[in-house]
Amino acid sequence: MAKKISMAVIRRLPKYYRYLKELLDKDVNRISSKELSQIIGFTASQIRQDLNNFGGFGQQGYGYNVAELYNEIGKILGLNKEYNTILIGAGNLGQAIANYSGFQKSGFKMKAIFDINPRIIGLKIKDIEVLDIDILEEYVKENNIHIAVICTPKEKAQQIADVLVKSGIRGIWNFAPVDLHLPEHVVVENVHLTESLYTLSYLLNENEEATK
Ligand code: NAI
Repeated sequence: MAKKISMAVIRRLPKYYRYLKELLDKDVNRISSKELSQIIGFTASQIRQDLNNFGGFGQQGYGYNVAELYNEIGKILGLNKEYNTILIGAGNLGQAIANYSGFQKSGFKMKAIFDINPRIIGLKIKDIEVLDIDILEEYVKENNIHIAVICTPKEKAQQIADVLVKSGIRGIWNFAPVDLHLPEHVVVENVHLTESLYTLSYLLNENEEATK
C-alpha cells in the first residue's frame, strides 16, 4: 500500500465490508455514495473521501460496483487470506469464541486451543483438542501460526504474550483487560466489552438527562 491510511478510516472499513456483503446477498450490483450513506450512516462525502484513499472505486453517475468494492475492501483488510489462529485460555469466554463458526468462515482458522487446567486439557471444543500450555512455544514455532487469541485471567496475559512473541507470533487478539507490552513488530487488538458497556451507561444517562 503506497499511502498510509489513517486509523480512523481503517476502523470504518469493516463496517463498509459488512454492509456491502448484505447488499451482495440481496443481489444489489451497484450503489451510489448517497444510497450507501443512507444505509451505513456515514455522510456521502465521508464515504467518497474514505474510498478515494484507495484510488476511488466509484464512477461519476454510476456509483460503486458493489462486488468490486466488497472485494477491494476485503483485500485491503487482508480478508482474502487465511490466518492460522490459536486460542489461549479455554474458560467461559475462550470457549464461546472457539465455538463461534463465523470467524472460521472469514478465514481465521482455529488450529489449537491451550489451557493450564488439567481438567480442561484433552477436552475437545469443536473437534479441536485443548492442549497443555507447556507446549505453546513449540507449537507456534512449528505450525506457522499467525494470530493468538488471549482469553486467560489478566494476571497471566503478559507472561503468555511474552512466550508468544518469543515463538514468533505477529498478531494478538487480546481479551484480557490489561495493556500488553509488546515489541513493535507485533500488532495487538484489544477487545474490551466492559469499555463498551461503560460507554453505553454514559449514553443512557445522558439520554435520560436530555429527556427529563
Ligand atoms: P475463566 O476463568 O472462565 O477462563 C480462564 C481460563 O484461562 C481457564 O480455563 C484457566 O484454566 C485458563 N488459564 C489460566 N491461566 C492460564 C495460563 N497460564 N495458561 C493457559 N490458560 C490459563 O475466565 P473468563 O470468564 O473466560 O475470562 C477470561 C478472560 O477474559 C479474563 O481475563 C476476563 O477478564 C476476560 N474477559 C474479557 C472480556 C472482554 O470483553 N474483553 C469479557 C469477558 C471476560
